[in-house]
Amino acid sequence: MPAPEGTDFLADAPLALTATGADLGAVDADHAWIAVIRKMDETYAELVRQQVELEAKNAALEEAQGFIAGLLGSMTDVLIACDLNGRVEQVNLAAERAFGQGAEALVDRALGDLIDPASPTSAADVLATMARRQRIVDQEFTLATPDGPHAVAVNGALRFDPRGRAAGIVLVGRPIGELRAAYGALAKAHEHLKRTQQQLVHAEKMASLGRLVAGVAHELNNPISFVYGNAHALKRYVDRLIAYLDAVHGGADGPALAAARADLRIDRALTDIPAALSGMLEGAERVRDIVADLRRFSSDRREAREVFDMAGVARSAVDWVAKSQMPDLTIRVDLPDGLETIGHPGHIHQVMMNLVQNAVDAMEGRPERQLEITGAHVPSPEGERVVVEVCDTGPGIAQDIMGRIFDPFFTTKPVGKGTGLGLSICYRIAEEHDGRLEAANRPGGGAVVRLVLPSARAEPRP
Ligand SMILES: Nc1ncnc2c1ncn2[C@@H]1O[C@H](COP(=O)(O)OP(=O)(O)OP(=O)(O)O)[C@@H](O)[C@H]1O
Ligand SMILES: [Mg+2]
Repeated sequence: MPAPEGTDFLADAPLALTATGADLGAVDADHAWIAVIRKMDETYAELVRQQVELEAKNAALEEAQGFIAGLLGSMTDVLIACDLNGRVEQVNLAAERAFGQGAEALVDRALGDLIDPASPTSAADVLATMARRQRIVDQEFTLATPDGPHAVAVNGALRFDPRGRAAGIVLVGRPIGELRAAYGALAKAHEHLKRTQQQLVHAEKMASLGRLVAGVAHELNNPISFVYGNAHALKRYVDRLIAYLDAVHGGADGPALAAARADLRIDRALTDIPAALSGMLEGAERVRDIVADLRRFSSDRREAREVFDMAGVARSAVDWVAKSQMPDLTIRVDLPDGLETIGHPGHIHQVMMNLVQNAVDAMEGRPERQLEITGAHVPSPEGERVVVEVCDTGPGIAQDIMGRIFDPFFTTKPVGKGTGLGLSICYRIAEEHDGRLEAANRPGGGAVVRLVLPSARAEPRP
């Protein structure tokens, strides 16, 4: 407010009036008036200053109120502020929309009026919780709206005044429909992921079963063709022997019999028959061994803990996986006698097959293909261990994936070739055997995967 003109018109008025011969009482009265007018002047100036200050504060307050109103208006969650008795003091725009009424119709109503009678949490529950000085966290409320019950998840707390005394209750509710939809989408995505993973696990099982069958069939093929070839030779020998016996029983004379014996190469047949028979026997035994290995390594009896020789397991894994898939592979299996460990031979066989399979995959298309399996008894602080290493001449394992190769579903192979479960299964099996599995690169190139298991020499026999 501008100061009116001339407010200080007496500020510079001469205080000393000449009183020569004049009435001194009149001079005193003048002084008193001047003092009063000056005081008024000062008071008036102070009022003006206060007025200006008040206006500035008002402007700041209005701005703050506008900001808060903007905030409340832009909230999508329903906000209800009420006093400690549950009388509504303020609501936001989202609440007005939810209840289909303006703020003026909602303010001063009882909180209970806004909550559906069937709500899982009632207004009385709110007041009781607040009386205990507790918070309401994600509790389900049903609001009574014109469209019917409206479910919201509510968070609530006490509101305090500047002196720190409880002054009211603030409730914020998020429509549960949105949350439910989000949960639904999440559950669906999770279900989809689980199904895909199950399919992958199934695909992996079928793929390893397919590889196993192919490898075993390849292995069986050799001794069977051996048996088959020898059986054919034996049949020819038998035919010739029968022809000779027919001549004997037909009463042929000595020279005729000698001629028939030479013709039918009977002496040669008699020399070859034992060799053909032992060849057949050898082939049949090999078939029997392969079938026995197959039985042993595919049995899933978890309790079957036994002492077994790693050499047999490793050789069979190489025979079944590597030979059929990479016939020109150079293979060196250098395992000492009596490299015995304790556990489930079938599961360790599965580990070895996976490791050999990875090595074979890594060497695909490489100029030099060399698979090496070495092993030894190694002393360690936890007792003697059996260590078996599978080395290849592939490209090795890149450093940036080294930390992830044991993760389930981690693979660098194209879709349909690998599922990334191989090493994670091997890792779990090694742990179940109180052992471990490690991977590294060899200084000369290629990867080395090390399987460490307890040594049967150090452990009590089961
Ligand atoms: N000998 C190896 N040389 C190079 N990389 C390897 C070797 N062994 C494993 N890896 C890497 O580790 C990854 C994971 O191997 P893992 O055996 O778990 O899965 P996979 O072979 O890809 O698929 P799966 O075994 O399920 O068919 C492989 O994709 C490959 O990148
Ligand atoms: Mg693999």
